Amino acid sequence: MTTTGAVHGCPVNESFDPLSADFLADPHAVLAALPRSEQPIFFAPSIGYYILTRYADIEQVFLDPATYSAAVAQAPLVPVVPEAQRILLAGGHRPQPSMVSLDEPEHARLRKPAARAFSMKRVSALVPVIEATTARLLDAVGPAVEFDLVAALAFPLPANIVFSLMGVPERDYAELKHWSGYRAALGWGRPAPEDQVEIATGMAAYRRYLRELVDAKAAAPGDDLTSDLLAIQRENPERLTVEEIASILFSLSFAGHETTTGLIGNTVRRLLEVPERWSAIAADPGLIPPAVEETLRYDPSVPVWRRVTTRPATLAGLKLPAGAKLFLWLAAAGRDAAAFSQPDAFDVHRPDSGRHLAFGKGLHYCLGANLGKLEAQIAVTALADRYPRLRLAPDQRLAFHPNISFRGPQVLRVRTQ
Ligand code: HEM
Repeated sequence: MTTTGAVHGCPVNESFDPLSADFLADPHAVLAALPRSEQPIFFAPSIGYYILTRYADIEQVFLDPATYSAAVAQAPLVPVVPEAQRILLAGGHRPQPSMVSLDEPEHARLRKPAARAFSMKRVSALVPVIEATTARLLDAVGPAVEFDLVAALAFPLPANIVFSLMGVPERDYAELKHWSGYRAALGWGRPAPEDQVEIATGMAAYRRYLRELVDAKAAAPGDDLTSDLLAIQRENPERLTVEEIASILFSLSFAGHETTTGLIGNTVRRLLEVPERWSAIAADPGLIPPAVEETLRYDPSVPVWRRVTTRPATLAGLKLPAGAKLFLWLAAAGRDAAAFSQPDAFDVHRPDSGRHLAFGKGLHYCLGANLGKLEAQIAVTALADRYPRLRLAPDQRLAFHPNISFRGPQVLRVRTQ
């Protein structure tokens, strides 16, 4: 180890900070300025992680879960102050709490029932619901000449869908959405110590709410995923506990909307950036699914995911010890010239954009990939149908939530004519 915390022989980049204003404004510009081919792996003291930029190395990590554990997937990047820790623990928020950060065999225990309850049948049945929700949200825009696409559609659509899938009453949607902001800050941001107590209190309330939802569905089942999971639990209480059902809901409730809000915002942004792109998809909606796929490669809404070594490993030619924390830069993998030709060009006709790593790969491969893509496709289809001449409003500076893993414009002003 060097004084920075990196192993000997590993390049160290003192100035790389994925939470800096420059990085948040334009991570691809930061990536373009890095000496990628000479340094496919480097250490960033700002967060204490090894940064991986090559597609092949990141894929290798995803495909070897015995060497690369998911335990750090949502670990705070900064120390959590004792008072906030106490509130989190009292609220049932344990350090290794949910599907995405568990290794085998505990991971499979949660994933199997969730995948079963999250079947293709349930997802397909959602198509008319997603279409109707999109139409209702766009109707509410009315005759406005300019509106914020995120507030009007990208934000409420995925939230409404995932919460209704879970069986959350509509009156509680806003509160769940609010708690999710705390979750992004705690797991993937750098919250100041003075803000951590408020965040922890919100997280504890979020956990409590989900446990109460499970109790309410146990007493009065409905046609929703929570009730499906309870049915599985009743069949075989050994396989799934009530506590674990609340944990699955904790995973889905967050993963199911923040990611998709970003995907819709990023897709519309990239399509409107060049007006001819929008005209092309408005004229030929068949181009919309490939455009969503290309956005996942070019500007993914989950640009970074994390792993930690369980034992010594060699990665990108570097010998790492056990306990080395890895920052898998999925957005950089999408721009790797060894994986995609002309990676910095956005091209809806690209034949292989679907090879992106935006949903991860292997055992933890995103459970909601089909649902997220479907929502984005339906949202863009409805927008292009109503507004074939949609344009970005001029003079706007896009802002992004300060965290490493969830990315999409917080506001995207568009003009309808
Ligand atoms: C549309 C944009 C989405 C993106 C870019 C995305 C991305 C990801 C990524 C990168 C992972 C980690 C994969 C790994 O560790 O190998 C993941 C896992 C997960 N995602 Fe998504 N996701 C999206 C939408 C959704 C939706 C809509 C849902 C559910 C309603 C969802 C549920 C999950 C769950 C439950 C996991 C954990 C799976 C496991 O640990 O086995 N995601 N997602």
